[in-house]
Amino acid sequence: MDYRTTNQTAWNHLADTGSLFAKVASDAECREPLKVLDGRGWLPKTIAGMDVLCLASGGGWQAILYAVAGANVTVVDLSDSMLRLDEREAKRRGLKLRTVQASMDDLSVLGDSQFDLVHQPVSTCYVPDVRPVFGEVARVLRVDGLYISQHKQPVSLQISHRNERHQFVIGVEYFHKGPLPKQQDESYRETGAVEYLHRLEDLIGGLCEQGFVVEDFREPKRADYQVDVSHFGYRGRFVPPYLRMKARLLRKKEQTRTSTPAPGKLWIP
Ligand SMILES: C[S@@+](CC[C@H](N)C(=O)[O-])C[C@H]1O[C@@H](n2cnc3c(N)ncnc32)[C@H](O)[C@@H]1O
Repeated sequence: MDYRTTNQTAWNHLADTGSLFAKVASDAECREPLKVLDGRGWLPKTIAGMDVLCLASGGGWQAILYAVAGANVTVVDLSDSMLRLDEREAKRRGLKLRTVQASMDDLSVLGDSQFDLVHQPVSTCYVPDVRPVFGEVARVLRVDGLYISQHKQPVSLQISHRNERHQFVIGVEYFHKGPLPKQQDESYRETGAVEYLHRLEDLIGGLCEQGFVVEDFREPKRADYQVDVSHFGYRGRFVPPYLRMKARLLRKKEQTRTSTPAPGKLWIP
């Protein structure tokens, strides 16, 4: 099975069995969507009327919050089960939302320069190469558009197991190629999914190659000093699981493909 089929099946299963990542936006969150979405103050004061692409963001959280805040939202995801949650929540809340089932590394269903903002939660680990993803994001964004993304830290994906002293062992090489092996330490890995390690030069350099400039860079702190060694918060004291970037598209590279946009599905209550 190729990575798309495997990950679609895995994420359908995660969505259908109530994964934490398939948690829809709550009423309380919908009362202050920008505060919830934007702890770092990376978004403009209002996003009403902005064209927003929630990339690999199915599950009824990001897309719903952006739509509640007044943006024109398109959500792309590989998993139909994750997208169904967005559609169900949009309908329930009377919101307009376009859902598109596609892989992040082939957005040919979307036209060029359609969006002011692309928001992508942790998900580039599900494709073998991030460069086509960044190329597609640059193509569908307008110049000066924002790309907010979160990724798994390569060092976190290198951890294979703990030794008898609860030290974290780096058992995967930094230059590992191909799907990551199954590990004893499964923190920050999703069961059934095939994942890939992307080095910092791929994540940061790959963005720069596409004409982005990185305006801010964060490592969300997941360290917890009150928990027992088995807890992921203990692991977070040694290795940050994620990195988060705010990037802006300064200029377009010459495009090699122009695509024909397709309508997707539109929810109009
Ligand atoms: C960690 S979840 C993110 C969504 C979630 N709403 C959240 O709260 O962060 C990762 C998402 O990536 C999607 N995904 C995996 N591979 C993908 C691909 N190749 N293209 C698009 N989406 C993909 C999964 O279906 C899943 O919805």
